[in-house]
Order: sequence, then structure tokens, then C-alpha cells
Amino acid sequence: MTKYIIEGGRPLFGEVEISGAKNAAVAIIPAALLTRGVCRIENVPQISDVTLLLQILEQLGASIRVLNRHTVEIDCTRIRSARTNYDLCQKIRASYYLIGALLGRFGEAEVAMPGGCWFGGVRPIDQHVKGFTALGAGVTVEGGFIRARASGGRLKGANIYFDVVSVGATMNVMMAAVTAEGVTVIENAAKEPHIVDLANFLNSMGANIRGAGTDTIKIQGVSRLTGGTYAIIPDQIEAGTYMAAVAAAGGQVLIKNIIPKHMDCITAKLREMGVEVDEHEDTLLVRRTGSLRKTNVKTLPYPGFPTDMQPQITTVLTLAKGTSLVTEGVWNGRYRYVDELNRMGASIQVEDKTAVVEGVEHLTGAPIKAYDLRAGAAMVIAALAAWGESEITGVQYIERGYEAIVDKLRRIGADIRAVYEPDAVIERIG
Ligand code: EPU
Repeated sequence: MTKYIIEGGRPLFGEVEISGAKNAAVAIIPAALLTRGVCRIENVPQISDVTLLLQILEQLGASIRVLNRHTVEIDCTRIRSARTNYDLCQKIRASYYLIGALLGRFGEAEVAMPGGCWFGGVRPIDQHVKGFTALGAGVTVEGGFIRARASGGRLKGANIYFDVVSVGATMNVMMAAVTAEGVTVIENAAKEPHIVDLANFLNSMGANIRGAGTDTIKIQGVSRLTGGTYAIIPDQIEAGTYMAAVAAAGGQVLIKNIIPKHMDCITAKLREMGVEVDEHEDTLLVRRTGSLRKTNVKTLPYPGFPTDMQPQITTVLTLAKGTSLVTEGVWNGRYRYVDELNRMGASIQVEDKTAVVEGVEHLTGAPIKAYDLRAGAAMVIAALAAWGESEITGVQYIERGYEAIVDKLRRIGADIRAVYEPDAVIERIG
């Protein structure tokens, strides 16, 4: 088990290079299953979710060549089976993309359900199932696996209206539909930058997808896809997390390798709070010298303020003058980290989907825990801004989605180190 030790209260100065987008990578890697050609994927983030997905493809029979730190070549030519490894798949939520990709390639898929509740629970996939069913697949859950099979061996294009705007369902059904017979129209589609990125990747391999980035996506099925070379877009949320870190801890940092348009929703909120953000072609200069102003934030599907930045912006608001309201508009809650912030001296009360954040003068370092990926990012931001030392446990969640976060923060002057403790020692301590 690794933990991070952070001595806070030091402003951040320097430059940080943003990696490829996690939520694009976790769809694009499974999408390589759709072709017998070789896919060379660039700007792949080095994070544990990517490592797991590559292992799953390898288990299926794909040949993976790592060309350099951020480039992989995936060749799924020899894959014969649509049955995935149970243990690996249930470790990662994004393994649901294997269903769409395998259905598109083989007309059938067998994928282990990830941990947690799948149907009607906290993170349902009923809209994915609705889409696959509309395309002519029978979908069942048996023995911990979700099984989908196209009647007649090939999916058929259909009109699909999603009842909720879902990133996962939009991408999953898009993957299944690219090789379906005829035309598929997805209405009420999600519009996140990674939806467009996946569509661009698939089109670069010969798919015919139009309208990605709007709420209606039209897919003309093709009989086969080829290989190709594709570079994943920069990670909007990683960039936003470093922007929030500068806002909370103070200082001036150049955020490099970003697409400023994708950052608009985050940039606008930080500016309202008194943070200076200068936009350039593919960089943002973020500076915070004075005090922070209160603001209200509501998370919404893109182009709204992203839910994956909710814990980070709430952390910044703990240090703003006045009372701010943060409303979660995508997930139920997502406020488990609030108790940790309050233990550091923050003053936050959660009522249903809204957090009422009363700004305080400063936070103080404490032993804190990362409960999930973005909650973990919020803990890091809080610890960077806090007076004194914090010890963050549960950092394996953070490493699922943030490449080299310790090194990147050290390079901009943070006093952070990762300490490895063998599990046995932790067990003995209790
Ligand atoms: N929903 C349904 N039925 C479905 C699917 C979703 O009711 O079949 C609901 C969800 O319960 C939620 C809303 O629709 O209330 C949006 O869920 P969505 O499907 O968009 O989320 P997701 O695809 O499961 C991805 C990201 C999440 C991110 C959300 C929203 C991946 C692997 N995950 O999840 O990222 O929060 O979109 O943008 O891409 C993260 O990176 O930390 C993370 C959790």
C-alpha cells in the first residue's frame, strides 16, 4: 500500500504537462477490438486503468506492443473468443466498453460485471442494455457475467432514444453500431469531448459516424474496419485538477498540452472566484495571488461543469470568502469526501444533492483518506493548501486516473512524497 505525505501551505510555480484523457483511453483501447488491423494509439496515459484494460485484451489474445511511454500498438487480429477474464474485468468500471466492442466484432460478448450494483443500483447500465437490445441483441446476466448476443450473428441499425444522458451508454452503443447492418441514430446522446474522440478514432478506422458532440449521433454501419494511428485528446479533468490545485494553494502554473475549449466550463468558474486564467493555443496560465470569492456550482453533462471536478472545486471553495453552494446534477451525492475535508477544518454541510460550503481562513493538515479517484484528487488539493502535514491513504484510487501525480506536483514545487508500506505492516498495525 502506498500513501502520500504532503507538507502543505506552499504555492505552486512552474509547468505541468497534461496526459491523454483517461475517459477517452478507457473506451478507445477496447474499441481496438473492432478491427483485425493494427491500431497504434498515441498519447495514452500511464495509469492503472489503462494497464488493466491492456491486460484484459492480452488475455483475450490480442498482441500488445508498448512502443514508448505513451504509445501502444494493439493487434486484435487473432482474437477468437468473446469471453473476457472475470477477475480483471470486475476490477474496472470501464470494462463495460468491452460489451459494445465485442458485440460489434463478433456479434456476441461475455463480460464480467464490475464491482457494485449494475441494474437499478448506484451506477446502472440499463441505458447500455436498452441500446444493445434495440440493435437486436439479447442481453442476460448469469453467473456474474453479462452476456449479449446478436440474433442472426450481426446487429441491426436502429433508432435509440436514451432516457438519461449517459457517457458510457453513448460510447458503448456507438461501438456496437459501427459494424451493424444499416443506420443507427442515437438521440439524447452525451456530448463530452471523449465522445467526439472515440468517434474520431472509429472514423479514422473506416467507421461512418456523424454528429458526435451533438445530442444526435448518426452511424451508418460498415462491414469492416481497418487499423490506423490515432492520438488521444488531453485530459480535461487532469488539467482542471491542476488548475484547482493552483487556485487552492496559490502560485502560478502553466498547464501544457490542453484544448482550451474543453476547459471553458472550469476556467469560467475559477475566474468567477478571482483566479486569473490566460488562454493560449494549447496552454493555460493559471495564477492566484489574492483571496478567493464564493460562487455557486452545479454539475451537468458537457458543456456544463463536469461532475468529475466536483470534489476538487468544492475543496477550493472551502477557502473562498463567503458561502458557496455546490449541487451535484449527474450522480446521486458523490460527497463522501466531505467528512475528510471537515476534519481538516473545512465547514461543509451536505443536504441531499447540495453541499453548503462556508469559506474558512485555512485548512490544517490531517491523516485523510481517498475514497475514490476524484475524491482522492480533492484530498491532494486540500493537503497542498493546508497548513502542516497530511497523510493520504487510499492513493491506489488516485493512480487509477492521474499519471505520475507525485512527480508532476513535485516539479511545480509541492512538498509531496509517496511512501510504500507493505500490506503486512498495515495489517499488523490494524
Ligand atoms: N445512468 C443511468 N443508466 C445508465 C447509465 C447511466 O441511469 O445506463 C445514469 C447514472 O446513474 C448517472 C448518469 O446517468 O446518474 C450519468 O452516468 P454516465 O453513464 O454518463 O456515467 P458513466 O459512463 O458510468 C463516465 C465516467 C465517469 C463520469 C461520468 C459522467 C468513465 C469510465 N467514467 O461514467 O467518470 O463521472 O461518465 O461524466 O468514462 C471518473 O472519471 O472519476 C468518473 C467517475
